[in-house]
Amino acid sequence: MPDTDAAISMPPVPRTTGVRLEGKRAIVTGAGSRAAGIGNGRAAATLFALEGARVLLVDRELEAAEETRALILEERPEAEVEVFEGDVTDEESCAAMVRTAVDGWGGLDILQNNVGVGLSEGSVVDTDLDQWDMVQEVNVRSMVLTGRHAVPPMVGSGGGSIINISSVGALRPRGMTAYSTSKGAVIALSQAMAADHARQGVRVNCIAPGPMYTPMVYAGGMDEERRTSRREASALGIEGTGWDIGLAAVFLASDESRYITGLVLPVEGGMLLRGPSR
Ligand SMILES: NC(=O)c1ccc[n+]([C@@H]2O[C@H](COP(=O)([O-])OP(=O)(O)OC[C@H]3O[C@@H](n4cnc5c(N)ncnc54)[C@H](O)[C@@H]3O)[C@@H](O)[C@H]2O)c1
Repeated sequence: MPDTDAAISMPPVPRTTGVRLEGKRAIVTGAGSRAAGIGNGRAAATLFALEGARVLLVDRELEAAEETRALILEERPEAEVEVFEGDVTDEESCAAMVRTAVDGWGGLDILQNNVGVGLSEGSVVDTDLDQWDMVQEVNVRSMVLTGRHAVPPMVGSGGGSIINISSVGALRPRGMTAYSTSKGAVIALSQAMAADHARQGVRVNCIAPGPMYTPMVYAGGMDEERRTSRREASALGIEGTGWDIGLAAVFLASDESRYITGLVLPVEGGMLLRGPSR
């Protein structure tokens, strides 16, 4: 177990087999991390590549995606990873990212929609409506835009797997109403897409991360007390990392989950089981 802050924010890369995603072509949005460390998108993109997929690392911050590519190549020098600078709130960007993958690799098998923003303290009474719209745009509309362009080539390749990142905030709201609403919409969108495209061979599932210790939450500063309370929120009493999300994503991306679609998979150490002890 790591025992320093630095070690915990850079948790070791999990062991991989190198073959679970062999031959697959993947896009991961938000494949960088907003600060040093292992975010959910960086973890998924890295594990996809280490499991043999060709991966397009999409991020609006080129440098963040380049850092992910460097991590991947350090672990697996023969990995095929490309970086794409784009903003998933922009439809032309979404179309171009899909074209890049399809033109380069002849098709698309996996799309992981990881981009999401949290910044949304407040109830409907005190929420800022411009901020409300922005949160829905980044967290939900972006997944509509990427899906619109990714589904047709996936169908053309005989099917595929889409993984959307929701949050336990959708299932256990806690004072971030715009965020909770957007992440609930991600669940509904995923299930609607799963129903719409099942007969075309496209599976659509959702991961609901719990209180992971990732750059998204510690970049703005997190004191030890808050970090401990987040860890203690899980029934297991352990801290989740980006790798926990990435490992779940590998399963949903792979043919191991061929009979699973429309699933909401909480990855939260049993946080949702918690309630009053008596
Ligand atoms: N960490 C947690 O505790 C937690 C809990 C629940 C859900 N989540 C979800 O996990 C996802 C975030 O994961 P992360 O750890 O990779 O986050 P992150 O904030 O580190 O973001 C990853 C990357 O997304 C990029 N990005 C942001 N907006 C973009 C846009 N419009 N277009 C393209 N790229 C963009 C950023 O530049 C960054 O490099 C979000 O959907 C978030 O809601 C996180």
